[in-house]
Amino acid sequence: MNPLNPLRAGLDDERLAPPCAIVIFGASGDLTRRKLVPALYHLQISRMLAPGSAIVGFARKSATDAEFREEQREATMQHARSKPVDPESWSTFESSLFYVQGAFDDASGFERLKSQLERIDATHGTRGNRLFYLATPPEFFGPISRMLASAGLIGDPTDSASFTRVIVEKPFGHDLESSRVLDRALHEVLHESQIYRIDHYLGKEAVQNLLAFRFGNAIFEPLWRRENIDHVQITVAEEIGIEGRGKFYEGAGATRDIIQNHLFQLLMLVAMEPPSAFDADSVRDEKVKVLRALRPMARERISELTARGQYGRGTLGGAPLTAYREEPDVNPDSRTETFAAMRIDIDNWRWQGVPFYIRTGKRLTRRVSEVAVRFKAIPVALFGRSQAETAPNELVLRIQPDEGITLRVAAKQPGSRMLLRDVNMDFRYGTTWGRTSADAYERLILDALLGDATLFARNDEVDESWRYITPILEYWQEMPAPGFPNYSSGTWGPAAAEALVERDGRRWRRP
Ligand code: BG6
Repeated sequence: MNPLNPLRAGLDDERLAPPCAIVIFGASGDLTRRKLVPALYHLQISRMLAPGSAIVGFARKSATDAEFREEQREATMQHARSKPVDPESWSTFESSLFYVQGAFDDASGFERLKSQLERIDATHGTRGNRLFYLATPPEFFGPISRMLASAGLIGDPTDSASFTRVIVEKPFGHDLESSRVLDRALHEVLHESQIYRIDHYLGKEAVQNLLAFRFGNAIFEPLWRRENIDHVQITVAEEIGIEGRGKFYEGAGATRDIIQNHLFQLLMLVAMEPPSAFDADSVRDEKVKVLRALRPMARERISELTARGQYGRGTLGGAPLTAYREEPDVNPDSRTETFAAMRIDIDNWRWQGVPFYIRTGKRLTRRVSEVAVRFKAIPVALFGRSQAETAPNELVLRIQPDEGITLRVAAKQPGSRMLLRDVNMDFRYGTTWGRTSADAYERLILDALLGDATLFARNDEVDESWRYITPILEYWQEMPAPGFPNYSSGTWGPAAAEALVERDGRRWRRP
């Protein structure tokens, strides 16, 4: 037990953030209400935020502190992961919530913010520590950081007495060119060590467990290579549609929304070499090498190596669902893809000849994110026909829901004959640890407060991922969409996705 603070008894395996003023730009938005404030509230009740921490919402709309607190209270009651929200804990938490009204291009709002932060330093002991969370569309990242710099709110990165850090939300740009422009804008006023590009997938327990699984066990790493693995499938499937985000999604599509970031993060963690240490640079150095080794998709092979789709009408659990083109704020002739799949090849010693099939889509049969590693088939079937009917070993790392790991092996069925069947060896988070995992945002905000960037994307990773994806997006833009809508809501996606793997003599898993 920590003798200095008995309140932290039992939490010695957890970490405590230093006192800091956390400023959220885009404070009237959905992300703030659904994710950020509930995450900060949970950090506070789990005693991981230092006493004296303060949260300042900044947005264009006019509101008082009291109105902002009320709005966030209602949202947290709805979205908190542990309910009901305890009124006493909330009231302690909300006394540190403040609001500053301002537009992102108006210097006077930033002056007001500066005065508020100075007051907070004096009353809360935050000592000039600032975490700015840019929960805004990417076109505001540059203007906001410039305004912060002009108001004198960005500290020197080498200052050891206090820190300034900036979390930027995805999407980080729209293509290679725009992400570079964005990166230059941020670097005009910030050092790379002050920039935290969030990808909430990296905050998920089961995603971090991929690293623990690979590099915390001796038995898997020797198998983790071309000699033993036939192929890998990575799926991020969603049951939901676009949930009223038509305007955003029309400009994004499945590839920009999920593949360039969440899916590529999973790909890097599965394919990377062991890092020399578990720190931000060592881990990210190895991750980016995976992206550098991706075989660029030759233009003439894009249609063969990718599949795209858009959902039409359908049903789920008997309920009728509308088509993407019928969603609010969506062009009735939209060519935006709501499903994308690709075959990716990695040209390095470990993975040469092992295809990575990735897919994501909205309005699919069920919500499931997973990595499935399919091993090679046995060389000789000793046990006759029943063995020939068993499938090759498969390791499935389930990211969500039902987080866990399953290994499929062949086993003898009880009885007098040597009959083999597939069985599963299963590890489940829920039953093993007996507690619910923190939300990804809790973990990542805490890491940013502690100055640990291991689970954030570095600029070279973002650059490499856009370098790979942009020619595909450009090609799709030029080529007419293939008969959209081309899959019904509630199914596993377009026939083209099946053809993509069947061409190689393989099949998608049906999770
Ligand atoms: C977001 C995307 O980044 O991730 C959404 O913009 C998507 O479209 C969401 O629904 C999925 O996150 P999760 O944690 O529910 O898998």
